[in-house]
Amino acid sequence: MNKLIVNTYKKPSRIHRNLYGHFSEHLGRCIYGGLYVGEDSPIPNTNGMRNDVVSALRNIRVPVLRWPGGCFADEYHWKDGIGEKSLRKRMVNTHWGGVVEDNSFGTHEFMELCRQLDCAPYVNGNVGSGSVQEMQEWVEYMTFDGESPMARLRGENGRPKPWSLRYFGIGNENWGCGGNMTAEEYANQFRRYQTYVRNYGENKIYKIACGPNVDDYHWTEVLMREAGRFMDGLTLHHYSYCGDDFSHKGSALDFKEEEWYSLLHKALYMDDLIQIHKGIMQRYDPEGRVGLLVDEWGSWHEVEPGANPGFLYQQNTIRDAMVAAVTLNIFNKHSDRVRMANIAQTVNVLQSMILTEGEKMVLTPSYFVFDLYQDHQDAMLVDSFVETEMVGEGAYRIPALHESASLSENGRLTVTLANLSLETAYDIDAVLLGSSLNGVEATLLSGEMAAHNDFEHPQSVKPAAFSQEVRLTSSGAAFQIPPHSIVKLSFHA
Ligand code: AHR
Repeated sequence: MNKLIVNTYKKPSRIHRNLYGHFSEHLGRCIYGGLYVGEDSPIPNTNGMRNDVVSALRNIRVPVLRWPGGCFADEYHWKDGIGEKSLRKRMVNTHWGGVVEDNSFGTHEFMELCRQLDCAPYVNGNVGSGSVQEMQEWVEYMTFDGESPMARLRGENGRPKPWSLRYFGIGNENWGCGGNMTAEEYANQFRRYQTYVRNYGENKIYKIACGPNVDDYHWTEVLMREAGRFMDGLTLHHYSYCGDDFSHKGSALDFKEEEWYSLLHKALYMDDLIQIHKGIMQRYDPEGRVGLLVDEWGSWHEVEPGANPGFLYQQNTIRDAMVAAVTLNIFNKHSDRVRMANIAQTVNVLQSMILTEGEKMVLTPSYFVFDLYQDHQDAMLVDSFVETEMVGEGAYRIPALHESASLSENGRLTVTLANLSLETAYDIDAVLLGSSLNGVEATLLSGEMAAHNDFEHPQSVKPAAFSQEVRLTSSGAAFQIPPHSIVKLSFHA
C-alpha cells in the first residue's frame, strides 16, 4: 500500500484561480479558425466567436486569457486592429508562418471574447518594436473614462464605455524575440515603459514584467533588484519537450516509452525552477508582493506531418494530460508565490485544450485535466504527501505518483493524483487528517500512452466515473490507481 497523506490542519496558501489560465496568440489557427471565425462564417458563432469553442471553454471555467502573444506581441501595433474591419491593415505575420494577418481580430474582439468566456483579459504590450507612446495610448484606449483622444477614438469605434483591464504585460521574452535584450537593458526599459501604464479612475493595472527563460536566474536577480518595486508580477516560461535538443523534439503521437519518461521529467523540472526563482524573489521581496506568473508552459512537440512548421499544430495524448496534471499540481503547491499560469495555447497550437478542423471540434486529453482540476480554483491548498517509488530509465527517473490537494469554502476536499508509471497499478491508502468526511466522488482519466482524440474518433479519451472503485475507510479512503492515469477525488462532509 502506498500512503497518501492529506493534512487539512495545514493550509499554506490560497490557490489563485488564475493558475488555471490560458494563452491565445496570433499564431497558426489559434485565433483565426480556432476561437474566431468572423460574423459571416457558416460556423455557428456569436459576434464572430465560435459557439462550440466558447461553450467548451466556459465549462472548464477559464479564469484569465492572455493575448495577443507571445512573440507576436512585440510585433503588434494595436491601432492596426481597430476600426472598420475592411479598412484594417493587411500585413504579414512575420514570426509565425509568414501568412497574411488581416487584423480582423483586435482589441474590441478580444474583449468581446473575454466577455463571452466570462474571464479576465490579460493584454501583452509591445516593448520590442513599439513605442512608449503606443503603449500608453493602448492603456488609455482600453481603460480611460472621460474626455481624451483615445477615449474619443474608442467611442467612434462603437465602445463609449471603457473596459475593465487588470493584467497588462510590458513586453514578452525580451531576452529573445522581444528585442534580444540583456537583463540590465530590459530592466531599464521596463522601468521606463511601466511609468506610462497608468491607472485611470477605478481601473488598477497589475503590471507584469518579462521574466526569465527557464533557468536564467541572473535575469530574475537583475529584474528584482533593479525593477522589483515597479512591478506586480514577473513571468517565467518553461516548455516541456523530449530529450535535450529542442531541434529534435519528437512526435506528439509516435513515441517510445523512454520518451514518455523524458517528457514528464522535463515537466517535473518546473518544480525546481519555481523553487529557485522563488528563492531569488524572496530575497528582494520578503513580503511576497510580486507574483511569479508562469504565463507560458506546456508540451512542445514537432508539428503534425504536413502542417505549416510555423503553425505549431500538434496532437495531444494521455502523455500530455500527464504533463498538465503534474504541472498543475506543482503550481498548486507553489501558490504562495505563483499567482497566474497560462498554458500554451488554447486552440490548435502546442498543448491545446481544443482542436478544430472547419466546423469540427475535439476536446483533447489536456482539456479534461483542466476539467478535473477546476475545484482547485480559489480553494485553500492543504498539505499533502505521497509515498512513491521511482520509475523510468537512466537520466529520466521520475516519481511514479504525484499529487496535490485543496479545501474549498464549502468544505469539499479535492485530491488530484497522477500515476506516471506505464506499467504499475498502485494500491493507495489515503489518510485524511483533520476532516470528517462522509462521501466521495471520484473520476478517472486514463488511456494507452498515445491515446488521443481526433476528428474521426472524438471520444476515445474522456473521463470516467471512478467512485465505485474507492472505499471509504476509518482514516480516509482506499483505492487502486491504474498505470498512466489521473484520479480526482472529491470528498464531502
Ligand atoms: O507559444 C509559442 C511561443 O513560445 C511564444 O510566442 C513565445 O513567447 C515562446 O517562445
